Amino acid sequence: METIKCILSRRSHRAYLAKKVEKEKIEKIIECARFAPSAINNQEWHFSVVSNELWLNKMSEIIAKHLNRESYHVSYHAPTLILVSSKRDREYYVKDASCALENIFLSATDLGLGSCWINQLSIDELYSDKEFLNLLKEAGVKEDYKVYGAAAIGYPVSEVLPKERKENSVTYLD
Ligand SMILES: Cc1cc2nc3c(=O)[nH]c(=O)nc-3n(C[C@H](O)[C@H](O)[C@H](O)COP(=O)(O)O)c2cc1C
Repeated sequence: METIKCILSRRSHRAYLAKKVEKEKIEKIIECARFAPSAINNQEWHFSVVSNELWLNKMSEIIAKHLNRESYHVSYHAPTLILVSSKRDREYYVKDASCALENIFLSATDLGLGSCWINQLSIDELYSDKEFLNLLKEAGVKEDYKVYGAAAIGYPVSEVLPKERKENSVTYLD
């Protein structure tokens, strides 16, 4: 897909089919994530590709309890959730992770998949919850790392219309 078309057609999807995502597609998405820019090329990030339903359900329960929400699913029931983690409390690493996440969203779009940024795994208070930390460990998140963002990845149930963009967000100085 042409790059600009891909950027303009990306949407946040919040409903997914149960259909699994092909391994080759996931591997291509991860390759694109790893080719994101990073400050002084530090590449201090880790990508955890979670397609384990039990893990996703357990994580959903923990977060639902924390948020006091009855119905919550950490990936909107998408079959795969990619966690992007890096060392805690470093501003650069947040920026690096965000670049990697955007590459994930765009490559997913290019491959005909839906995606959505999932922010709840960054909630500071969760990092003192043993059950939560155990699940992160299972997914390969290192002890001094934090999940700065995650991407739900799957086949969307339906098309999502573009959200309106605010006016007056640009200044051109010629
Ligand atoms: C830093 C960040 C955090 C976000 N967190 C969530 C989230 O936790 N859950 C969610 O459904 N969408 C989340 N989003 C997606 C935004 O809601 C979405 O990008 C916005 O509404 C614009 O819609 P679009 O992505 O379809 O253009 C997040 C986006 C960003 C950039």
